Amino acid sequence: MKTYRNFIANEWRDAVDGEHIAVRNPSTGEELARLARGRREDVDLAVRAARQALSGEWGRLTATERGRILTRIGAGVLKNIDLLTEIEARDVGKPLTQARADVVALARYLEFYGASADKVHGDTIPYQNGFTVLTIYEPHGVTGHIIPWNYPMQILGRSLGAALAMGNAAVVKPAEEACLTILEFARIAQEEGLPAGALNIVTGFGAEAGAALSEHTDINHISFTGSARTGEMVQTAAAKNAVPVTLELGGKSAQVVFADADLDRAVPFLVNAGIQNAGQTCSASSRILVERSVYEDVIARMSEKYRALKVGPAESDLSVGPVVSQRQKAIIEDFLGVARKDGLTVAAQGTIVPDAPADGAYVAPTLLRDVPPDHRLAQEEIFGPVQVIMPFDSEEEALALANGTPYGLVCGIWTNDGGRQLRMARAAQAGQVFINNYGAGGGVELPFGGVKKSGHGREKGFEALYGFASMKTISIFHG
Ligand code: NAI
Ligand code: MG
Repeated sequence: MKTYRNFIANEWRDAVDGEHIAVRNPSTGEELARLARGRREDVDLAVRAARQALSGEWGRLTATERGRILTRIGAGVLKNIDLLTEIEARDVGKPLTQARADVVALARYLEFYGASADKVHGDTIPYQNGFTVLTIYEPHGVTGHIIPWNYPMQILGRSLGAALAMGNAAVVKPAEEACLTILEFARIAQEEGLPAGALNIVTGFGAEAGAALSEHTDINHISFTGSARTGEMVQTAAAKNAVPVTLELGGKSAQVVFADADLDRAVPFLVNAGIQNAGQTCSASSRILVERSVYEDVIARMSEKYRALKVGPAESDLSVGPVVSQRQKAIIEDFLGVARKDGLTVAAQGTIVPDAPADGAYVAPTLLRDVPPDHRLAQEEIFGPVQVIMPFDSEEEALALANGTPYGLVCGIWTNDGGRQLRMARAAQAGQVFINNYGAGGGVELPFGGVKKSGHGREKGFEALYGFASMKTISIFHG
């Protein structure tokens, strides 16, 4: 069984106190590897290595040279696609096709940010006579990245890719449930020529390594994706040191289906945005709002798809794999228990295949109908393959329902009425709006992030580069 170590200044190091964390395969429950249990001292070493990189080889590179290295790493990721796919499937239970798509996305982030690195430029500003004023973008310095377990490779790509393109040096704390592909990535990055200290990885528990990173006095920015509760702790810790924070905290995103929508096109999106990655997606569409005249039709069509869903081991590559852990399965089952106790109606469910290992973390996808809008299952993030569907009678009501949760990440709108498309898009409280499509976060090129309890700051797209930079204004008097 393999024992993984931390990656600091291009060296593999055991945790200072030598302890480990067991890694389990959620498809089977079996232990498959061990991780270093990093803590404060390990995070200190990593931050110091990153700081040194800024004044060393990494810090001296031009933007073009940084971009070339990122581009090479992206190609290196694709060379390792089979290995990364297999590791991700075993570590987090992603069906092989979905794991493979994450590898492709990671490579694409590096391609995108590699090509963007030397295209970020400032302005000159009209000012008093005798002055020239410039703005330039500089890296923050040492950036911390706390990554969740649902899309480790994609979230690493979007946050680390942009941070390195801007010239920061990074310390990454992956989720304890999903470290293996991120550590494998470090090996690839080093092989493809990333200078020492530009990327450092400390594995460990959130309350230990994660807390140590967010409290650290020598980091200059922190990017966090995960739960609202932990995000609040990270922001509070960073605030003590006036460290800026980007928070991406999930949601309860709706797709709104009007009666004139093309249902043949819509229905596959409605279902897939709920069950992709077993529903463990920050931008999952966990609420489906449907105009009453087509409500029963949409339920019937979605139910048919649900009844065809098969859940099983990642290696079987079915539409749904296990959820990431027994702990996550228990969270989802608690919600389903509440649904039963409150008498909510199940419209349809998928099936766990009979030969799925008994110790795997399997949950049957569940579509719940007529859920009252203020019910917990219509308000709280479940983070599992569970969708609620409810009717509406007017555009006004649809908008109130769509905006009627504490979250504001993504909103999908299905209608062929152009005016309605834009009225809804403008009024939706969300960081991304999809009209007649739904991207669950969308492509690499599209800025992404939330409003309200879904967080603040934007990652992905060119916009992310500004988030990983600080602007300097230079005012020159020349007479
Ligand atoms: P979490 O928010 O606790 O974990 C995310 C990351 O934060 C992990 O790397 C974890 O080690 C780290 N972390 C945990 N405690 C920390 C602390 N005190 N200081 C600094 N870092 C810390 O989420 P968890 O417990 O894994 O999942 C619980 C729920 O969170 C899920 O059911 C889901 O609703 C939500 N979630 C949302 C995600 C998203 O993409 N928006 C991703 C993962 C979870
Ligand atoms: Mg795992």
